[in-house]
Amino acid sequence: MIWRALDTIFLVTLMLFGSLGDSLPLATSTRWIVDAASGHRVKLSCVNWAAHMQAMVAEGLDKRPLKEIAARVASLGFNCVRLTWATFMFTRKHYANITVAQSLDSLGLREASTGIAENDHWLLNLTLVEAYEAVVNELGAQNLMVVLDNHVSKPQWCCGNDDGNGFFGDMYFDPEEWLQGLTIVAKRFKGKPQVVGMSMRNELRGPRQNKQDWYRYIQRGARKIHKANPNVLVIVSGLNYDTDLSFLGRKPLGIDLDNKLVYEAHWYSFSGQQGEWEVQPLNWVCANATRRIDERVGFVTQGENPVPLFVSEFGVDQRGVNQADNQFLSCFLAFATERDLDWAIWALQGSYYLRNGQAGFEETYGVLDIGWDHPRNPKFQERFGLIQEMIQDPSLLVSTYYIMYHPQSGRCVQVKGKDGLRASYCRKWSRWIHNGEGTPIRLMNTALCLKVVGDGLPVTLSTDCSGKQSTWKSVSSSNLQIAAMDEQGRYLCLEKSSSNSTTILTKKCLCLDDDSNCYVNPQTQWFKLIPSNLN
Ligand SMILES: *[C@@H]1O[C@H](CO)[C@@H](O)[C@H](O)[C@H]1NC(C)=O
Ligand SMILES: *[C@@H]1O[C@H](CO)[C@@H](O)[C@H](O)[C@H]1NC(C)=O
Ligand SMILES: *[C@@H]1O[C@H](CO)[C@@H](O)[C@H](O)[C@H]1NC(C)=O
Ligand SMILES: *[C@@H]1O[C@H](CO)[C@@H](O)[C@H](O)[C@H]1NC(C)=O
Repeated sequence: MIWRALDTIFLVTLMLFGSLGDSLPLATSTRWIVDAASGHRVKLSCVNWAAHMQAMVAEGLDKRPLKEIAARVASLGFNCVRLTWATFMFTRKHYANITVAQSLDSLGLREASTGIAENDHWLLNLTLVEAYEAVVNELGAQNLMVVLDNHVSKPQWCCGNDDGNGFFGDMYFDPEEWLQGLTIVAKRFKGKPQVVGMSMRNELRGPRQNKQDWYRYIQRGARKIHKANPNVLVIVSGLNYDTDLSFLGRKPLGIDLDNKLVYEAHWYSFSGQQGEWEVQPLNWVCANATRRIDERVGFVTQGENPVPLFVSEFGVDQRGVNQADNQFLSCFLAFATERDLDWAIWALQGSYYLRNGQAGFEETYGVLDIGWDHPRNPKFQERFGLIQEMIQDPSLLVSTYYIMYHPQSGRCVQVKGKDGLRASYCRKWSRWIHNGEGTPIRLMNTALCLKVVGDGLPVTLSTDCSGKQSTWKSVSSSNLQIAAMDEQGRYLCLEKSSSNSTTILTKKCLCLDDDSNCYVNPQTQWFKLIPSNLN
């Protein structure tokens, strides 16, 4: 079943992209990333793949052959990879020009070496830079786009305030060497159409960070990349671990990149106040966190000179055991699908050759498991289905409707034959029309709308669209609970049944009266109306 779905997705990916070269290079048009030639939107649905750690080799090649990993990325529904790199690997001879085998040997990683010898013998005698290029080539061969992300200067795990890689002038972070690295990489990968963008620097941070240097070096770096390769998107991050671009509201970046500028931001459950996702009222935390994200980074997509925002890192423990992450993810998915942002999840890798001094270190945020065989979360595709889809394409002159989305399950409300309403996999969805608070939710181009029957009973489709049982409003501070009244005039909220994966009920609203003080988890009742104009 799941594999049939995977095949379908793979076909759709092929159909969308044809040959990758057809829709490249990319450019920007207002807040959207588009195919420069046709002006049609191209949405980046990426996964981060680390190649910046001590070994400086794309992770996992000891576990599965390169071709298989790239194919797995595509079959999981991604259309792109944010591939990380360390500056030294391109600027310093003793990093750039050692072979993969030498690098692994120098770290005592015999098992990794043996693994690569079995999977991709030919990689071992390539230099690190050649091996990196081989990964980029294979991704392109499988119709995947690539964003090259300068992650650190000295190859190592990122990021800490005092790891010497945080800001211009830190121990390993010589700005001139960084600029040189950007130029080398921009030139080296020029002419590879799959390389659609370069992320200038990951998570600027630490005691040295300041706006003055930010403007100075970001302007210089952006110009260098653009000059060396005018085809790539130049992706710019802010301060405080990629969470703050608010200063741009007062002073724009002030350079013209000919429609290639994109901003990036990171958002994790641990990005804001410590512990906020664990103990506090969830509707409030989600409302506050969303507002904060908008004030610090989201605003770049709005206003007079909108710029696309690429959420180049977000992620959760894919085992589902981290409560804060679980609470955060539904809120994030509602936000990112409503704006239809471009994004890259952290991360592909189920393991590292070496991290924290430990060979074979497991990455629990990894989409793939430790053997790089299967998704760590068996429901990965269901949960991340909608965010991987293009939801809005401003170049289409089709009127906007809503998708009814349930982020906790990743499912969408669909009307299907005589079975009526169901929550189903978000590769297909029904189109809903809702004109605001206190109006019905109509099935587009029909006389039908959603109607409350009673507490604990499935919601139905009805032609009675004017009564109180059919007029819906948002009832919580997160704007994620949608309610209408029952016959007795009590509000009931839409809820996805927890016992039947397809059933949508109405139930007594959780946290209705004073949600600032309500500590129950309302996520079964979180639905979001997502604007779309896709056919
Ligand atoms: C690595 O070797 C190549 C070929 O000899 C040379 O062109 C390049 O500059 C070297 N890289 C570094 C960083 O020294
Ligand atoms: C790699 O190079 C080493 C030393 O030059 C050589 O002994 C070995 O056979 C080479 N391996 C491959 C796969 O080419
Ligand atoms: C949310 O923001 C409000 C207003 O700024 C504040 O009073 C409240 O303490 C915040 N609540 C949470 C849970 O962060
Ligand atoms: C879920 O509900 C639908 C319709 O309400 C029903 O057809 C289906 O059998 C139920 N599934 C389970 C597992 O109970």
